[in-house]
Amino acid sequence: MKQMIIHGGKPLKGDVWIGGAKNSTVTLIPASILSRTPVTLEGVPRIADVDNLMDLLSEMDVECDFQDTTLRIDPTRIERRPLPAGKIKSLRASYYFMGALLGRFGKAVVGFPGGDDIGPRPIDQHIKGFEALGAQVDNENDQIIITAPKEGLHGARIHLAMPSVGATNNIILASVTAKGQTIIENAAKEPEIIDLATFLNNMGAVIRGAGTETIRIEGVDQLRAQVPHTIIPDRIEAGTYISLAACIGNGIRIHNIIEEHLDSYLAKVEEMGVVTEVDEDSIYVYPAGDLKMVQVKTDPYPGFATDLQQPITPLLLTAKKGEGVIIDTIYPKRIGHIAQLQKMGGAIRVENNIILIHPTKALHGAHVSAGEIRAGACLMIAGLMADGETIISNAGNILRGYDRVEDKLRQLGADVEIRDVK
Ligand code: EPU
Repeated sequence: MKQMIIHGGKPLKGDVWIGGAKNSTVTLIPASILSRTPVTLEGVPRIADVDNLMDLLSEMDVECDFQDTTLRIDPTRIERRPLPAGKIKSLRASYYFMGALLGRFGKAVVGFPGGDDIGPRPIDQHIKGFEALGAQVDNENDQIIITAPKEGLHGARIHLAMPSVGATNNIILASVTAKGQTIIENAAKEPEIIDLATFLNNMGAVIRGAGTETIRIEGVDQLRAQVPHTIIPDRIEAGTYISLAACIGNGIRIHNIIEEHLDSYLAKVEEMGVVTEVDEDSIYVYPAGDLKMVQVKTDPYPGFATDLQQPITPLLLTAKKGEGVIIDTIYPKRIGHIAQLQKMGGAIRVENNIILIHPTKALHGAHVSAGEIRAGACLMIAGLMADGETIISNAGNILRGYDRVEDKLRQLGADVEIRDVK
């Protein structure tokens, strides 16, 4: 198990560079097996999810070479093998092997995915999509077996019950090489969907409308990667550092951002009174003055991201008066961090899945546990703000999604260390 040990209360200052988006990366790596030629991904973050996906690729004889931020994936000798358990359970995004294997081989045998403990996360819309494309989906011994008909998958019109990121991506992966046209209605509009479409279109796919609620895919025979693909910056990592900078920063510049991807988040922190200045691809966060409480409601993109409700929580604790409210409409049970913040002295509680926040003069160090990635990010910021020592157990969850986090925090002047413990 990993622990993050923080000696908090030190103002942080300087520059930090955002890595490639985790939720793009974890889609593009499985998507790479659709290519008949080697794939090069640039801007790949150093996160545990990438290591786990590379292990899954190696189980199918796909070679990977990861140097600095460039990941080369060679799927030319791929063998289709079942991916029943093990690493599949270590991350949610392993479910993208369902769509990718189905698209490449017409068959996928994949264990039920793992991932963060943030409440129920059904995949009924993914399965509905595969079935609409003509596949048979069976569920045996905690595995999903998806089989295309003899003549291959065919295009279909699929209306999603909710704009699911995972279902939209999985249907794209399965349908790029299906016969005919597929239309996804009520598709998710997240920037990471556009990144997947750009990646696949550069390999010869024909996908139009990514980033809108209707995506049209014309099936093609084969995909062949020709040019390196640079992954978009991680908007959730950027939002986390913006919150950190407003909570404990003495002037922090965050580089490699796309401002538009942060619109709803920036609107909220500005409503609180945080002052920022955006350049072409960086944002400077001034030391915060007296901040106002706000209400936050998460929504699908372009709304306020569920993945940022925990990172913004410590900032609300610093507001001077009033009551803050956070409602997560995507994952109402994403509240595991609240009890941990209470241990640190946070005036925060949950009523009927609604998080209520009151001004908190000071947080104090405590032994807390990171139940999942974004809860970990929230506790990391709280630990940096708190007086004394904070020990975050299960810090491996932070490393699943935050690129070289120890180095980045130290560069800002933080006293932080990640240790292996038994
Ligand atoms: N949903 C269903 N049925 C489905 C699919 C989704 O009911 O078949 C529901 C979910 O339970 C949820 C909502 O629809 O209430 C949205 O889920 P979505 O499918 O969009 O989420 P996801 O694809 O499983 C991705 C990210 C999450 C992020 C969500 C929402 C990846 C690997 N994961 O999950 O990221 O919270 O979209 O934006 O891309 C994180 O990075 O911390 C993280 C959890």
